[in-house]
Amino acid sequence: MLFSTVLAAVSGASLVFAAPSLQSRQTDDAKPAINDIQVLQYAMTLELLENAFYSEGLKRFDAAAFRAAGYPDWVRGRFQQIAQHEATHVEFLKGALGKDAVEACEYKFPYDDPKGFAAVSMVLEVVGQAAYTGAAPLLSDKNTLEVAANILSVESSQAAWVASAVLKGSAWSGPFETALGPNGVFSLASPFIVRCPSTNAPLPVKALPALSVQPAAPTAGSEITLSFTRPAGTTGTLYVVFLNGIVPKFAPIVEKDGKYTATVPEGLQGVVYSGVTSNNTSAAASDANLLTGLTVFDFPISSFVSNKGTIPQ
Ligand SMILES: *[C@@H]1O[C@H](CO)[C@@H](O)[C@H](O)[C@H]1NC(C)=O
Ligand SMILES: *[C@@H]1O[C@H](CO)[C@@H](O)[C@H](O)[C@H]1NC(C)=O
Repeated sequence: MLFSTVLAAVSGASLVFAAPSLQSRQTDDAKPAINDIQVLQYAMTLELLENAFYSEGLKRFDAAAFRAAGYPDWVRGRFQQIAQHEATHVEFLKGALGKDAVEACEYKFPYDDPKGFAAVSMVLEVVGQAAYTGAAPLLSDKNTLEVAANILSVESSQAAWVASAVLKGSAWSGPFETALGPNGVFSLASPFIVRCPSTNAPLPVKALPALSVQPAAPTAGSEITLSFTRPAGTTGTLYVVFLNGIVPKFAPIVEKDGKYTATVPEGLQGVVYSGVTSNNTSAAASDANLLTGLTVFDFPISSFVSNKGTIPQ
């Protein structure tokens, strides 16, 4: 009853009721590994990051800076609206979590101009979308799930707007977008986080070893070079998993002279996440079993190719 409790509070009832009812739900949770409060703290951590990103970027680049970068005025205007959405999501989650709310961290974002800002915006929006989708099965309360789905649809619209209207690419990846679990999401978000208040509740995520992949914009059939530290206790062939839609694709990693390479499979479209796995089954590609953090790629989709996607066999 998390969000409905908040809504009730907003319309006059006391938020004091919220905390005890939230706490008691932790004991009868069918999935005790992560409870709804933790899922919302995780969501709030991501919303705070997005909120800081938009408010900083829009402070840094005024209307003239956006114009100088070649954007019509409505682009900055829409970014301002997105900034307001994120600020509202933060306030909303703060109300929902009450004393369990987390606070903003210190961040660093890799952009120098409005174009770079737009590119980071797209990453944050698609990762936000993947995070909300991946968090759905972690939530126990159906009302909370409904509001999470509601926020997800806004993140998804924002992602589509940035990707297509601003960056002139595709608004979608395919018939299915990609769901990411908290470990994978956090591996993508943590490079933007410098430090968080020590009073923030620890997030239920595993710190995964970093993965970097060259080139940054690979193509089907090409060779990529992966940099990561082979996790202790792993033997035999490792795989790189490409998460894109609902069917993961794998490529065996070739290890030679301390260098790791793999060949990019065919059929990847739009936003693609990759990480290292111990084998090429979907169990190994699950969030809990990832051996490294994720990297994100954009495989541009021509307007004139099939975007049919793959369904599980
Ligand atoms: C998994 O790896 C084995 C051995 O390399 C290969 O025969 C099989 O086709 C692979 N399956 C997938 C789904 O990539
Ligand atoms: C693949 O890896 C997962 C996660 O480590 C493990 O649970 C599963 O047993 C492995 N499957 C095979 C066929 O090796």
